Amino acid sequence: MTKKLFIKTYGCQMNVYDSERMAGALSAHGYTATDLIEEADLVVLNTCHIREKAAEKVYSELGRVRQLRDRRRADGQDVTIAVAGCVAQAEGEAMLQRAPFIDVVVGPQAYHRLPEMLARRGNRGPGIVDTEFPIESKFDELPDALVPAGPSAFLTIQEGCDKFCTFCVVPYTRGAEASRPAGAILREARTLVQGGACEITLLGQNVNAYRGTAPDGTGWGLGRLVRELAEIPGLARIRYTTSHPRDVDDDLISAHRDVPQLMPFLHLPVQSGSDPILKAMNRKHTADDYLRIVERLRDARPDLALSSDFIVGFPGESDEDFRATLRLVERVGYAQAFSFKYSPRPGTPASLMKKQLRDPVKTERLAHLQELLEVQRRSFDSASIGVQMEVLIERDGRDPGSKVGRSPWLQIVHLEGPDLRVGDLVTVEIEQLHARSLGGRLLGPPAQRGRAA
Ligand code: SAH
Ligand code: SF4
Ligand code: F3S
Repeated sequence: MTKKLFIKTYGCQMNVYDSERMAGALSAHGYTATDLIEEADLVVLNTCHIREKAAEKVYSELGRVRQLRDRRRADGQDVTIAVAGCVAQAEGEAMLQRAPFIDVVVGPQAYHRLPEMLARRGNRGPGIVDTEFPIESKFDELPDALVPAGPSAFLTIQEGCDKFCTFCVVPYTRGAEASRPAGAILREARTLVQGGACEITLLGQNVNAYRGTAPDGTGWGLGRLVRELAEIPGLARIRYTTSHPRDVDDDLISAHRDVPQLMPFLHLPVQSGSDPILKAMNRKHTADDYLRIVERLRDARPDLALSSDFIVGFPGESDEDFRATLRLVERVGYAQAFSFKYSPRPGTPASLMKKQLRDPVKTERLAHLQELLEVQRRSFDSASIGVQMEVLIERDGRDPGSKVGRSPWLQIVHLEGPDLRVGDLVTVEIEQLHARSLGGRLLGPPAQRGRAA
């Protein structure tokens, strides 16, 4: 008898990738995925610990899942509850104290053990916990990514972080930097392309720190890996995220110049524009270093657009420090960006720093920064009007015949294309600017056809 699996994913794209892999591993044990939590026999929450709000969401969701289980038990059925991801890793056993009804707590490095844990758990006794960093790699144990969910697929190539930014939990929840062997990545990429993917986003907490063993026994960096991936027929678009400014090397910059499949959009978080704050954050680069890297990238690829993450209200951030961030934003000109109020995280050095800022100060600075970033986003989007660009069709639109796709710069583009299918690559002229997307006119038949029927 098949059992129904519902996975809710929080946090970054690496969690999205992991959720797909967990679903793959569990399908070999009789679980089929469902979008309806009400009918699930197994609920997995794949959690994020990055900010306090993210972590707290998990406990309110757990409360709801527990009520669901009570209702199902009243009907003579049951629900198994598993918590995965970074909250699981960070809190481990402590999760069972706060929510004793959890069946399984499994850290991001131990997913391949999930089916076995579920079997061991049975339906009695206290919940079980596995937050080890096992010697065997989950990548070798989990089945290869199955059929991609759409024309755009994720592929994790690197995990963990050795940077220890003073605000960040990732080095503790994901462990040390580790790269997958290049051969395994190329194999998985080919499987994804055969399954219909024509865009692959390479993932890693520090993706450009990638240094994997190559089939020829040497070590490849990200630039080399991108060049090799570009040889796969049918793989039209390559992206990578998230990168650290410190790991942008010459070879990666020249890959942006040489490899047309490498999309001209880069998420390169800077966090702050103030040198004293960058130092206190342990970012190991100055604002100037960052600006120089951006300049070199843009020399290599003049149409490169940038995105970033920002933290406002880091301990000790003065008005002048904050103004330095605004100045950096003005100098770079971002196509889009994410910005957050600093959130003290247990166990991180910054949470112990004196001079924590009051919330109203953070709120005000965040609003100010977001206003500027929004102006930049709008101006980037308006500059697309009249431009011809390639769009990858990702789904049907709301109206019959309409389609929704993405530009090379990750902008959402709406167009009329009754004969188009998901996965088609088409040339479009941009004609309209909507609130958070663009509208375009189809200029001809697809340059590459999607696999989806
Ligand atoms: N590895 C990536 C980022 C991972 S976390 C990198 O180095 O850029 C994603 C973003 O969350 C970070 O870039 C940062 O802007 C934000 N973030 C991390 N810890 C935070 C904290 N304690 N408070 C607020 N934002 C935080
Ligand atoms: Fe966190 Fe810094 Fe590592 Fe990014 S580089 S994951 S922000 S510690
Ligand atoms: Fe969150 Fe963990 Fe990703 S803390 S951002 S899910 S690495």
